[in-house]
Amino acid sequence: MLIDPTTLGRQELNRLVNGLVAPRPIAWVSTVGEDGSCNLAPFSFFNAFSFDPPVVAVGPGQRSGVPKDSLRNIRETGELTVSLVDEELAERANLSSAEVDYDADEWELAGVTPAPSVDVRPARVAESPAAFECRVRTVVDLGTAERPANGLVIAMVTRIHVRNEALDGLVPRPDVLRLVGRLGGNLWCTTRDRFALERPTSARVEDVKRDVPQRSVVSTPGSQE
Ligand SMILES: Cc1cc2nc3c(=O)[nH]c(=O)nc-3n(C[C@H](O)[C@H](O)[C@H](O)COP(=O)(O)O)c2cc1C
Repeated sequence: MLIDPTTLGRQELNRLVNGLVAPRPIAWVSTVGEDGSCNLAPFSFFNAFSFDPPVVAVGPGQRSGVPKDSLRNIRETGELTVSLVDEELAERANLSSAEVDYDADEWELAGVTPAPSVDVRPARVAESPAAFECRVRTVVDLGTAERPANGLVIAMVTRIHVRNEALDGLVPRPDVLRLVGRLGGNLWCTTRDRFALERPTSARVEDVKRDVPQRSVVSTPGSQE
């Protein structure tokens, strides 16, 4: 199928895009508003975009044209923490996605403990195996007046917290971190099924080409696949 996204409704686009761009890591985002109210919610429009300097981005959306509490707080105070979600925390992260009033306490709802941050006001999740303290670099509004959409929050990481046993020197241990990801719909995944691929040096390229079946037919847009 060849799909023009402008012909689809929100729900169809949600299913299609989230099912294709998968798995996505999950940012458990903690923020504080101007009035001091705290917020905690999971976001799977999340990734790292640079390691030097460390930069992450999250995409909190809106509800009926009103920015979600996390986006509102980020715009008001410019700070956030991102705690990572492991298998043990998945259920609780999901709980904190419930639509509740602005002043509701999602920390209590999820049953997790706020641990103080060093550089920023929002706390991080004490039970999380790793967390980033972040300051917002910029927020790109992805919507229009007619079609409100997510904010793309690009943030500089000022501090990285990692549980000692999840590190081998300074190298994270996936078997200890046991992070989870999000697929389409309500599907989540673990990171237990792993494989390694060596980066091809120019000397190895010919060997790899011999071993990997080469494409003989090049399909063009519009052809049946
Ligand atoms: C695993 C997971 C990932 C989610 N990812 C996003 C996301 O990337 N963007 C978004 O707007 N909502 C996402 N949501 C929904 C929000 O968590 C939910 O709307 C939450 O109530 C927002 O909280 P807030 O209004 O307190 O900011 C996700 C929910 C779950 C369970």
